[in-house]
Amino acid sequence: MQQESLRPTTPPGRQSAEWRSAAPSLVEDVLSGLLASPKRLSPTYFYDERGSQLFDEICELPEYYITRTETEILERYATAIAARIGPDALLVELGSGASTKTRLLLDELPDLAAYVPVDISRSHLMEAAHRIADAYPDLEVLPACADFTRPFSLPRSRRIPSRVIVFFPGSTIGNFDPPAAIELMKVMRGMVTPRLSSGSASGGLVIGFDLQKDPAVLERAYDDAAGVTAEFNLNVLRHLNRNLGASFDLEAFRHQALWVPEASRIEMRLISTKRQSVRIAGEVISFDADEPIITEHCHKYTPESFA
Ligand code: TRP
Repeated sequence: MQQESLRPTTPPGRQSAEWRSAAPSLVEDVLSGLLASPKRLSPTYFYDERGSQLFDEICELPEYYITRTETEILERYATAIAARIGPDALLVELGSGASTKTRLLLDELPDLAAYVPVDISRSHLMEAAHRIADAYPDLEVLPACADFTRPFSLPRSRRIPSRVIVFFPGSTIGNFDPPAAIELMKVMRGMVTPRLSSGSASGGLVIGFDLQKDPAVLERAYDDAAGVTAEFNLNVLRHLNRNLGASFDLEAFRHQALWVPEASRIEMRLISTKRQSVRIAGEVISFDADEPIITEHCHKYTPESFA
C-alpha cells in the first residue's frame, strides 16, 4: 500500500464539502429549492460529518431493516457475485460511507485490481479507506472525494483492470426520482464501459434496491422511536445555518416520514411548526404553519418496476 494511494482524488469542478469556496452555485441551488413550491432541499446536504455519523447510526436501528437485509443477502451471495465479477476488476463503490458491506465482497475478491470508494464526506471517506487498506494489505485503495451525481474521473490503478464494476448498495438508487435514477444508471453505464478495449470483457453493476412493503413498516423505518432519523433530517438545517449562515430555528421544524402510494415512495419532510421566516444568503424565506420542506424521496420498487 503506497501512501499516495490514500490521497483522495479530487475531480474537476465543485465537489468537496467546502461550501464557502464553492458558494455561488450552492447558494443558488439551496435558494431555488426553498423558493420552489413545494419547498425542497437536496439530500446531498445530509452528508456533512455529523450527517454521515448519524447515517451510520440509522443503519443500526432496529426499525431500519434495509442495512440488515442487504447484509444478509450479500453474506449469502457474495461468493456467487464474486464469481461473476471475475479477476482483476476495478471495484468502484458510489457513496461508500463506512464501507462496511463492501468487506463481504472484498473477502471474496482477493484479485481485485483496486478498490475505489467514492464519497462526498472527506474525513468519513478517508477513515474508511484507511480501515480497508489496513484490513486488506494487498489491495490498492484509491478513495475519490466526489459528489457521484456529477461527472468525476476515476483514479488510475497501478494494475490495469480487466473491467470496471460499480457497487451501489444501500437502496440509494431509490433516493433518485425515476428520471434522475435513469440518468444516473446511464452515468454508471459510462463508467463501466471499456473505453479503448479490443475484446475486453464489459463491466457490471451490483446494485441494491428496496421492495414495496407494508406502509407501517416503511414509515417506522424512516421515523424511528429513538429519533435518530429525525435528528439526521434536522441536521440539514444545522448544516445550512453553519455553512450558508442561515437562521433556521431547529426547534421550529419537525421530522415527518410519509408513505405516498401514488409515487410508491416515502417522503422525508421537515414541517414548519409555525408561521415563520428564515434568512438565508441575503434572502428571506417565509413558511406557513405546517408547510413542508421535502428533503428526501425513498422509492420502493417491485422487481418488475425496477427492471
Ligand atoms: N438509501 C437508503 C434509504 O432510502 C438510505 C437513506 C438515504 C436514508 N436517505 C435516508 C435513510 C434518509 C433514512 C433517512 O433507505
